Amino acid sequence: METIYHIRPFDSTVDTASFCCGQPPLDEYIRRYASQDVKRNVARVFIATPEHDTKQLAGFFTLSAGSVSCSDLPASLAKTLPRYPVPVALIGRLAVATDYQGKGLGSILLADACQKVINASATLAVVGIVVDAKDSTAASFYRHFGFMPLLGQADRLLLPATAFCSLA
Ligand SMILES: CC(C)(COP(=O)(O)OP(=O)(O)OC[C@H]1O[C@@H](n2cnc3c(N)ncnc32)[C@H](O)[C@@H]1OP(=O)(O)O)[C@@H](O)C(=O)NCCC(=O)NCCS
Repeated sequence: METIYHIRPFDSTVDTASFCCGQPPLDEYIRRYASQDVKRNVARVFIATPEHDTKQLAGFFTLSAGSVSCSDLPASLAKTLPRYPVPVALIGRLAVATDYQGKGLGSILLADACQKVINASATLAVVGIVVDAKDSTAASFYRHFGFMPLLGQADRLLLPATAFCSLA
């Protein structure tokens, strides 16, 4: 039977101690730093739990505001934009627990993040969504969904606003 997930803002009732996604810095982040980032308005953190257990952390992602220099953008996009740094939404971290990987949760989290950005962009303009990939495997996950590497930065990728409506 397909698992149904609830996605909600980070809260202290969820079990972060046993979260393991295969990338220790991301495990460490959700355990030690996520709540501080939320309190300091550095990031919004969203967690996914399976419907049957609202304390079990299956995955999470973070959203923040950011900007990119026009000179870092692919030429096709840069030519449509002003020459100064342009605003973006940043998915700083996205991770799925190893027990839940390969079952569609990563794409659910990415689609949910895109939907949240679409909703926010009605009041706060962004030219796209930027992600920081932790390694080449993560970068290939994002490329699978149409993200393009910023110039000279294989681990920082962008999905233009014109494209992410189709993901959400
Ligand atoms: C990368 C990660 C988020 C993927 O999550 P997941 O739940 O396993 O992915 P899904 O099952 O939702 O896969 C969705 C789609 O992406 C594809 N995909 C998954 N990982 C991929 C990869 N590394 N490269 C290319 N495509 C990939 C799947 O084949 C699937 O394709 P489909 O929809 O056409 O069938 C997860 O493996 C993870 O958390 N890894 C460790 C942490 C990490 O690297 N985070 C990302 C960078 S911060």
